[in-house]
Amino acid sequence: MSKVMTENLTTLGVHLRNDRQLGDLADVIEAIALATKAIAAKIQRARIDDVIGAIDNVNVQGEVQQKLDVLSDELVLRCLRACPSVAVYASEEQEAPAVLRDQSQGGAYAVLSDPLDGSSNIDVAVSVGTIFSVLPNDQPDASTADAVLQPGRNQVAAGYVLYGSSVLLVLATKHGVDMYVLDPSLGEFLLVATGLSMPTEKKIYSINEAYLNDFDAGLQGYLEYVHGNGYGARYIGSMVADVHRTLLKGGVFIYPATTKAPKGKLRLMYEGNPMAYVMEQAGGAGSIGASRILDVMPEQLHERTPVIVGSTLEVEQVSKRIA
Ligand code: AHG
Ligand code: MN
Ligand code: MN
Repeated sequence: MSKVMTENLTTLGVHLRNDRQLGDLADVIEAIALATKAIAAKIQRARIDDVIGAIDNVNVQGEVQQKLDVLSDELVLRCLRACPSVAVYASEEQEAPAVLRDQSQGGAYAVLSDPLDGSSNIDVAVSVGTIFSVLPNDQPDASTADAVLQPGRNQVAAGYVLYGSSVLLVLATKHGVDMYVLDPSLGEFLLVATGLSMPTEKKIYSINEAYLNDFDAGLQGYLEYVHGNGYGARYIGSMVADVHRTLLKGGVFIYPATTKAPKGKLRLMYEGNPMAYVMEQAGGAGSIGASRILDVMPEQLHERTPVIVGSTLEVEQVSKRIA
């Protein structure tokens, strides 16, 4: 981890505005950050306010929605609608994007989000997260709704908030990856590290080995390799937590294609792309096996993708074995 910036007291807003090149992208990031502060408050009180558990509804993913999935999604939408430069919001929890304003009305950015990732872990108090991706709304021929269907390499910002033992925001832009921690007494995300750069290799692998028999033979070969070469296994089952550990300590997080899920479980636009962008901006990598996650040309908003993200040499070890 690079320079830890605690000698100063620098809030997210001050740090974003110090980067003059961000322009009104700073407002978009602050709107997302506001939503995550509200989500953090809901999560801390979830069992007290009885917003634990599922509602009687299945979302577009075919997954039972948790009460907090819906609450988090609504909070993100309310904050983005208040931000003049957000054109459209596409969410894991909504079938179609919410068009807020077009380019002529100042809608310069598309925001995509998994408003609550790992939500099935809420009732057992395991860390969960919010993942976000920001794309420019500059597709000449696309409607505002279709502006979200861009490859991940077009992202101008991406990151996540981890609701864990502390609430932290990791933000990647073209200038690198910075980390902030929420000081609940101030209600501010305070800058704690800039220019994060991850180790190029580390013997930690993170995968749900319960699906071993459904993995590609090459991936099964990789697991034999790691079992015999001094690797440690870590799997939390909450993507934001697993990816954050990988960013800070190195290693590789894998959610691959399986015979039952030929394109994997995780979604390209608001899980694979933002996490791959964070990793690449921190000197790591993000692969689907044969190619870079950020180069995948999306066809549908909710399409799924294999995800192999982490230290460059570890991602390569996996990718070269997968057909
Ligand atoms: P979400 O809660 O947004 O649907 O995402 C859950 C994902 C992700 O957080 C995690 O990496 C993965 O589900 C775990 O899946 P398995 O339980 O199949 O390992
Ligand atoms: Mn998710
Ligand atoms: Mn989710």
